[in-house]
Amino acid sequence: MRSLAQSTFTYYSHHEDDTDLLGKLLAACLIPGSVLTLDGDLGAGKTRFSQGFARAIGIQEHVNSPTFTIIKEYEGTKLPFYHMDMYRISQEEADELGLEDYFYGTGVTLIEWSSLIEDLLPPERLAITISLQGDQTRVFHLTPHGDPYVSWCVQMKENGYLQ
Ligand SMILES: Nc1ncnc2c1ncn2[C@@H]1O[C@H](COP(=O)(O)OP(=O)(O)O)[C@@H](O)[C@H]1O
Ligand SMILES: [Mg+2]
Repeated sequence: MRSLAQSTFTYYSHHEDDTDLLGKLLAACLIPGSVLTLDGDLGAGKTRFSQGFARAIGIQEHVNSPTFTIIKEYEGTKLPFYHMDMYRISQEEADELGLEDYFYGTGVTLIEWSSLIEDLLPPERLAITISLQGDQTRVFHLTPHGDPYVSWCVQMKENGYLQ
């Protein structure tokens, strides 16, 4: 009961390898239609996290911030991967992206700067906010919305990865 009622979980990354490990742990949980959001200041590590995560789902290509393209699609060995960056988008453009086709499709979606399109996000998702603590330390705050995401977090906590 105690852990199921918890609303935010915390992961400490003291090194980029720790950030890669979180990507691997989450990649192991994925199902078609999984949606993860990434927020946090410039330089927090949203794109760096995305790179480790993409690698963990079998994408060989180098992953960058799709700041100008907004959406970049990759073919993973496990699942298609849709990497989004909403930093420069207008509300009208966002409305026309057809995001539901991604969210309810067969792939996994990762959205940087999701707070800028809050109204368009699906009700079920894993919200991740990253904060900087010094040069190398990053604190990942994971807030699951919906049962599947709650069980991912509870499982990772039971395994000692989350607090
Ligand atoms: N523990 C860590 N996890 C992730 N990135 C880290 C970490 N320590 C240092 N960094 C550095 O922080 C920067 C994060 O940049 P980036 O991922 O582009 O940020 P954002 O996409 O949030 O603007 C990278 O230069 C990365 O090398
Ligand atoms: Mg970025």
